Amino acid sequence: MKRTGSWISLPSQAGKRGGRRVSYWLVLALVPAAVLFVASLVYLCSTASVYRVTQGALFVTTARVRVNAFLDAVPMRKGQLLVDLGCGDGRVLKWAYERYGVRGIGYELNPLAYMAARLRCRRVREIEIKRENFLDADLSEADVVFCYLFPDVMNRLVRRIPVAVKPGATVVSANFPLPGCPASRILRPESLLHGEPIYIYQAGPEAPAPFSSPVHPL
Ligand SMILES: C[S@@+](CC[C@H](N)C(=O)[O-])C[C@H]1O[C@@H](n2cnc3c(N)ncnc32)[C@H](O)[C@@H]1O
Repeated sequence: MKRTGSWISLPSQAGKRGGRRVSYWLVLALVPAAVLFVASLVYLCSTASVYRVTQGALFVTTARVRVNAFLDAVPMRKGQLLVDLGCGDGRVLKWAYERYGVRGIGYELNPLAYMAARLRCRRVREIEIKRENFLDADLSEADVVFCYLFPDVMNRLVRRIPVAVKPGATVVSANFPLPGCPASRILRPESLLHGEPIYIYQAGPEAPAPFSSPVHPL
């Protein structure tokens, strides 16, 4: 009887094991899908919550190779101030601090990007992340202003930047130019995926500091 019992029970145990294996794979497939879904939802909600102000300038980060190209081309001294207009996850400020020991201020409205930037820069006292609109920012102390924004935002920024920065300041714009302002230099990083131009502007030596001609070519 015992034997018969085990003969009868064998297939059902195998069935249970098979069932367990199926649910194991199902969980393995579903967990990443669920994580991806929640992450996309959080991204969408955080983007939608500030879209009225940020418009096309969504939370997208600048690749390391591009940040390095900017840092190579614009050497800074320890203690100088770098401002990132729409600092995303704070990478530009953090990497600039690591390379040159500069102070940093990042403006960021998107709550997800703001939290990522706070987290990334949490151990660096020299970097401050502000959850504020950069159009209201005081740029008069900035030695270098960096931005990676989109054309609709650049159109608004161009009215403000030339009168807001101090004489001699450097303004760097990734991907999109400041409309109507002649750049002192245009970088084209050697990268198949990340080779879009980076525009460098130098403010004139007198206030207000218009970007007339390449006053101080870098
Ligand atoms: C393309 S991302 C660039 C992020 C970062 N600078 C980088 O290069 O990795 C532009 C960021 O600007 C932020 N932004 C757009 N308009 C803004 C505004 N008026 N005030 C503050 N942040 C803004 C967006 O939320 C977005 O995270």
